[in-house]
Amino acid sequence: MQESRRRRRMAITGVAIGALAATGLTFASANQALAEEGCKVDYKVVSTWGSGFQANVTITADEPINGWELKWNFPSGTTVSSAWNVSWSQSGTAFTGKDVGWNASIGSGQSREVFGFIGSGSSTAPGQFTVNGDVCNGPVDPPTSDDPTSDDPTSPGEPGDKVDNPYAGAQVYVNPIWSANAAAEPGGDAIADQPTGVWLDRTSAIYGNDSPTTGSMGLEDHLDEALEQGADVIQVVIYNLPGRDCAALASNGELAADEIDEYKNDYIDPIVDIMGQSKYADLKIVNVIEIDSLPNLVTNVSPRATATDNCDTMKANGNYIDGISYATAELGALPNTYNYLDAGHHGWIGWTNDDPQYDNFHASAELWGSLIGENGMTADDVHGFITNTANYSVLEEPYWDVDQVVGGRPINQNGDVKWVDWNSYNGEIDFATALREELIDNGFNEDIGMLIDTSRNGWGGDYRPTGPSTSTNPIEFVDESRLDQRYNKGNWCNQAGAGLGERPQANPEPGIDAYVWIKPPGESDGASEEIPNNEGKGFDEMCDPDYQGNIRNGNNPSGARDDMPLSGHWSSEQFAELLANAYPPL
Ligand code: BGC
Repeated sequence: MQESRRRRRMAITGVAIGALAATGLTFASANQALAEEGCKVDYKVVSTWGSGFQANVTITADEPINGWELKWNFPSGTTVSSAWNVSWSQSGTAFTGKDVGWNASIGSGQSREVFGFIGSGSSTAPGQFTVNGDVCNGPVDPPTSDDPTSDDPTSPGEPGDKVDNPYAGAQVYVNPIWSANAAAEPGGDAIADQPTGVWLDRTSAIYGNDSPTTGSMGLEDHLDEALEQGADVIQVVIYNLPGRDCAALASNGELAADEIDEYKNDYIDPIVDIMGQSKYADLKIVNVIEIDSLPNLVTNVSPRATATDNCDTMKANGNYIDGISYATAELGALPNTYNYLDAGHHGWIGWTNDDPQYDNFHASAELWGSLIGENGMTADDVHGFITNTANYSVLEEPYWDVDQVVGGRPINQNGDVKWVDWNSYNGEIDFATALREELIDNGFNEDIGMLIDTSRNGWGGDYRPTGPSTSTNPIEFVDESRLDQRYNKGNWCNQAGAGLGERPQANPEPGIDAYVWIKPPGESDGASEEIPNNEGKGFDEMCDPDYQGNIRNGNNPSGARDDMPLSGHWSSEQFAELLANAYPPL
């Protein structure tokens, strides 16, 4: 009873990501009256460069149209510089386009690519379109696949026919277990309908275990529920490597360093079997693959001073490479999966130094490149990469640049400014954009897309600056100008003061497929003191608020919240703070 009530609620409120927020999927398709008036606009970004982009616009009509006037509102700061096959005008964010005679008519049930344009600013698609005054978000009957005019990026692909960006125009699955946890908190309703990642954080999670946050739903339950929600995309986190989390203890897993056969046979193979069932052919399954693993083999191994024994072991035994390439190859072979490999964040991998001793960026990209060919993995098995998963790094620092000259020297060439410490980046957008190019140079496909986890990188609290500091002391300047309030970017556990970041959305920036909430807000990063458990999780001092740090966080205080449960377990207090400090505010 409870379950079916919950299902009904999800079906009605179903969440859409970004651009084509109301694709009509949440309207009852049995509603003939609506269906008869249905129309649909596809806004397809075909290329991007710098802040420029080209988009082509297609109208699908249920009733014949003879003469169209199409209107939308752009994201702010976006302008059209030229357009073809359309008579157009723009005032502020409002765009109006009219047919030019020969392209005026669209037959019943037909899709017609009516015009194209060059814009600059944000290539994120507008949230709503009107055609001849009617809100035009569908529903229409999906064009049949042999319709030569059909160019619908949101229609479920044929097997082997993956779309460029699975998030474009997609409704993304809402995990009912997280959603119920969120909705039960004061103010939680505001975000309870957001899509978050489904973490398969141990073998039993595939079948459903009784953990407080994964509850009784196994992978197949989630996939079935996604069908029921009418979701286009579900986000699954593959997270069970042997010797997991080698530089930390809070998320150590169940598999020992040498249990690679168990990983392949008992964990990956069953997941592949479940995802590969024909009933899921039209569901796009995004797999976020193995958080916090490969970069450790660059940054936390001997001879570096930051080395840990466990990371040295995982480098020596090759089981991270073996496991990740196996997972990526096996999952990538399915027609309905989209693999995104974890790529750390700028505060970890953003050092681009020419001296290999201090370079993390090029070496990491090379290491990912070296996966290609292992276990039959090809570049085609990788749809893209994700940064900032479960981390707190900001998208961008609006009030300062890393190479800005303050006190006579560029900030990133001044070792006294510990916050930057020679890092080439101060935000995830620039980092992910540059890393994408570097990954392409290392053998990945030119059309890979990046995801950025914005679940907890909002930093909207009282301390958020509203402009750059006027100080001429570079240390003070950076500390007073930065949004990110951590003691050090190496701090990763339950950061006090953090807030929710950008809400999930598709195509936020060129090359970035989506902002996503992979870490479910409210779920702990690790216990603030030792808690015995049967999940394989250790106690990491980085989660103890009194800990004064180690070489991996520049010997800074941990910045962690107190009274936190085991990683993955729910914290009402942390959830409340994330809500209060959300940016953009709720
Ligand atoms: C934990 C997982 C949990 C995930 C999402 C990780 O840190 O180790 O058990 O599922 O976070 O909260």
